[in-house]
Amino acid sequence: MILVTGGAGFIGANFILDWLAASDEPVVNLDKLTYAGNLENLAALAHDARHVFVEGDIADRALVDALLARHKPRALAHFAAESHVDRSIRGPGEFIRTNVEGAFTLLEAARAYWSALPQAEKAAFRFHHVSTDEVYGSLAPEAAPFTETHPYAPNSPYSASKAASDHLARAWFHTYGLPVTISNCSNNYGPFHFPEKLIPLVILNALAGKPLPVYGDGQQMRDWLYVSDHCAAIRRILAAGQPGETYNVGGGNEMSNLALIKTICALLDTLEPRADGLPYARQIAHVADRPGHDRRYSINARKIERELGWKPRETLASGIEKTVRWYLEHDDWVTHAQSGAYREWMARHYGGAHA
Ligand code: NAD
Ligand code: TYD
Repeated sequence: MILVTGGAGFIGANFILDWLAASDEPVVNLDKLTYAGNLENLAALAHDARHVFVEGDIADRALVDALLARHKPRALAHFAAESHVDRSIRGPGEFIRTNVEGAFTLLEAARAYWSALPQAEKAAFRFHHVSTDEVYGSLAPEAAPFTETHPYAPNSPYSASKAASDHLARAWFHTYGLPVTISNCSNNYGPFHFPEKLIPLVILNALAGKPLPVYGDGQQMRDWLYVSDHCAAIRRILAAGQPGETYNVGGGNEMSNLALIKTICALLDTLEPRADGLPYARQIAHVADRPGHDRRYSINARKIERELGWKPRETLASGIEKTVRWYLEHDDWVTHAQSGAYREWMARHYGGAHA
């Protein structure tokens, strides 16, 4: 089996759903259920014995030790993090605690567990650390996309905390030989994306008749990747990635925020027109820019394509349409995510009986 951290969040939940759709290898899911953790994302697995949910903190060393000893995973996929840049600006403390100290705790626990494994299992073990392209900082308009050797230059408390954890993961490989792999991925989007992030926020604000907030001039560029393509990349890295290696993962779908928002508005104009027939783009509202806002991220994903044979399946056009349709079709999920009612879901469906 494998141990996943942060599996009740956006990418972690998609990863577990895709993993169990592709194989029968069980997953132990350690998640603290912060505001971003939503077990409703995993409703399809509520009665599936292949998914074992454990509510807890990655920074709790005794808990992580106990889980490793009990379940004896052959790999660990580490997603758990505080992930929202705007929150990191308002309150960076939790980002340091979870993203840096939590990663340190996991690495140490994994090292102790791995060191004691028999030789063959030791060689096969993997610690995969899920990271972001934001660690590389901001690219100039004409600069070449980020490769794996691009210098680190994080600009937000979030990206600085992720950069710190990348450095720890790298050092645990070089110093202790722990078989670590790292992926640095661009902005994800798709089902179960928490409505504080740009794409779900725009879809849901548009439908609610609210303003669509564009930070600054809206000309910031992001390289969007459909979440299941990211999950497939991580499965490939767990299967065939080389210890000590970093893999950049991206969709090759650069777009400015303003162009992206207009694309979503145009899709909604067709799929769910406003009652008055006017275009949703009327709701676009420029607001104050985010402090320290990175202008551009762009990923060069040739290494993972060449070495592991991964390629994204979705284009931005196909992925955005799927995503808009998903939000239109999942009223209950949206209502619970917005009202906080998803917090009660666990008690109702699991009856407090977690592993
Ligand atoms: P998310 O905020 O949706 O989910 C994070 C999950 O981690 C939540 O379920 C939360 O409850 C859990 N968690 C937080 N602190 C914890 C702790 N101390 N112990 C245990 N669980 C804890 O985040 P996401 O968007 O799914 O991102 C997952 C990972 O992917 C993160 O490491 C993030 O840095 C990385 N990443 C995200 C993106 C993106 O576009 N969202 C892109 C590249 C990389
Ligand atoms: P976000 O989804 O927060 O991801 P990240 O900051 O990790 O890239 O934001 C994506 C982009 O959209 C980013 O450039 C900030 C911008 N943005 C807005 O313009 N308005 C908003 O309301 C939000 C949440 C983000």
